Amino acid sequence: MPSLLFVCLGNICRSPLAEGALRAEAARRGLGLVVDSAGTGNWHAGEPPDERAVAVAARNGVDITALRARQVTRADFARFDHIVALDHDNLKDLRRLGPGDGSARLSLLLDWVPGRQGQAVADPWFGEAEGFDATWADVTAAARAIVERQIAEGLSREKLRGAGRAYVRF
Ligand code: 4NP
Repeated sequence: MPSLLFVCLGNICRSPLAEGALRAEAARRGLGLVVDSAGTGNWHAGEPPDERAVAVAARNGVDITALRARQVTRADFARFDHIVALDHDNLKDLRRLGPGDGSARLSLLLDWVPGRQGQAVADPWFGEAEGFDATWADVTAAARAIVERQIAEGLSREKLRGAGRAYVRF
């Protein structure tokens, strides 16, 4: 099953929202995915998401209260197909931490959204509550794009397998 890990700084605002949005979108589309999130920092390890993140997810019908923050580890680079950074600092830190053996593929979250490649999801932590609505818009756009891409890749893999069977049979 395809697996994705979202990584931001604290793992209490942006990456748990990305995790919640992708879990909800995958469930809506009936797609099996392994989804997790982590922070490059460890200050909030063990804590639930920020209450403003919990609130914006709840307003949009998604419950993220059960999530708990943790720090990203080197083992994550072997466990996940994709490690998806929320901003450029997170991506830089991941490149520094990663074993560089080409296991997990690194990307920015908005690289997955057509027309938004190279853009960062702004950190809403120090800002106003409205910042979390902007975060939610970004993570849901990415969740839709990720699910679309996974479904398309799954279909083309199946087609290849089908072609392989036909080749063997005939
Ligand atoms: P996040 O937001 O990286 O989206 O979870 C932050 C949460 C906490 C801190 C910074 C960013 N902090 O400095 O504690």
